Amino acid sequence: MAEILKFPDGFLWGVATSAFQVEGHPFESSGQGSDWSVWAAQGNIKDKTTAEQACEFYSRYPEDIKLCKELNISAFRIGLNWPALRPCKTDSFALDPDAVKYYRQMLEHIKQAGMKTFVTLFHFCLPQWLAEEGGWLNKQTVEEFALFTEAAAQEFGDLVDYWLTVNEPLVYVYQGYISGFWPPGIKHNYLKAFQAMRSLLEGHARAYEAIHRVAKTNNWHNPMISYAIHWRPFMARNKFNPLDQLVRFLRDQIFNHIFPQAVQTGQLNFPYPLSLLNEIKAISGEIKGLKQSLDYLGINYYTREICEFAWTWPIDVFGKQSDINHMETTDLGWEIYPQGLYYLLTEDLAPFRWDKDGNQMPIFITENGMATLHHHELSEGDWSLDDENRKLFLIQHIAALHKAIEDGANVKGYLYWSLLDNFEWAEGLQPRFGLVRISYPTQDRSLRKSAELYSSVAATNCITLPDPIWTPVK
Ligand code: FCB
Repeated sequence: MAEILKFPDGFLWGVATSAFQVEGHPFESSGQGSDWSVWAAQGNIKDKTTAEQACEFYSRYPEDIKLCKELNISAFRIGLNWPALRPCKTDSFALDPDAVKYYRQMLEHIKQAGMKTFVTLFHFCLPQWLAEEGGWLNKQTVEEFALFTEAAAQEFGDLVDYWLTVNEPLVYVYQGYISGFWPPGIKHNYLKAFQAMRSLLEGHARAYEAIHRVAKTNNWHNPMISYAIHWRPFMARNKFNPLDQLVRFLRDQIFNHIFPQAVQTGQLNFPYPLSLLNEIKAISGEIKGLKQSLDYLGINYYTREICEFAWTWPIDVFGKQSDINHMETTDLGWEIYPQGLYYLLTEDLAPFRWDKDGNQMPIFITENGMATLHHHELSEGDWSLDDENRKLFLIQHIAALHKAIEDGANVKGYLYWSLLDNFEWAEGLQPRFGLVRISYPTQDRSLRKSAELYSSVAATNCITLPDPIWTPVK
């Protein structure tokens, strides 16, 4: 029998985007502005596409925001394009006035449509000039990020409900310094990855301080600030194999715990045996202004990963991702594991849920979604619109969320990734995450079945389960 799950009053049903992935910003068209536009122009994207056009959100945002309103969406996450706002090095700090005007207008549109705004400051793209000077390995980037944030808070603070300082810092350093699939394209350099991570923690602390200071000076509402963490449950391929368990432990500690633990304690600490290394000792320790620099918890959740020890030389204690899965996967090979969301919200986050005054912090799911693969040049026909698999994904994850809330998780909103078929970083335009399909190159927008489902969830604040679909058993 169908079961109806009701969410708490005022729960936010939103969508998430990032600047580079949707805007097709004209500034990026020159291929010079950000490290990502340079990276894409160099042919580093799997399907050889670039983000020059993306969803043309840069010019089409009024119609997309209108569409959100029609879909009953109550929160919209955008990213500020740091490279466009700060295109070159100048003696005295200034943001580009046209870019400022653009983002003010966009945020005003979102507010006028009655939605809450979530604004990300660093979503993987660096101004190219900063990337050329070493990116997050150069402390100048931390200084620039602090200045950029302060100026952004000054220009947009009255229009922002929730700030996100840095998006998925561990994904960023992993892809940039270990897999090398993202700029700066460095491979297998853990030390650089950890150094960049320390800078991102410093950047977060500086941004937190700056936004609060600017809000106070202007007498604005108390800003709500988080980073967005990508939380991924890890599972040992063979739970009886101590080496697989070691890999699982280290991946979980570094990928999931190190950032929130550092923010909670104000100290960056590495797990044993890494903590024994002199280079690691040199980047460990206190970070000024970091302790409890958090007003809510922004969580991105997608999948679980099975991992195992790898017999390579030199030995890599982080092992490798296994080539098996126990659950169904999306077209990107990501396990569909809604249980993980439940356990994350009820168990894994338990140590991190208190603010400095001892109150439970609000939690927002700032990203969750799934992709199906379709050729990027498809522009006509009804391909991909009947997305039963995405509907099921949504139902399962929203049901897990509901159960977590019933069991005490303080979740106040859920943002689906993404409203539109976005440019998916190193994967390009083939993975389609959108509730709304984009046909390239015509840019026609078509609602998928999942958009209709999500719209009715948002309108009623309830989800109807077709049958009992999932119970939380480990
Ligand atoms: C997350 C990123 C986001 C998007 C989704 C699919 O890791 O934050 O930009 O690419 O994955």
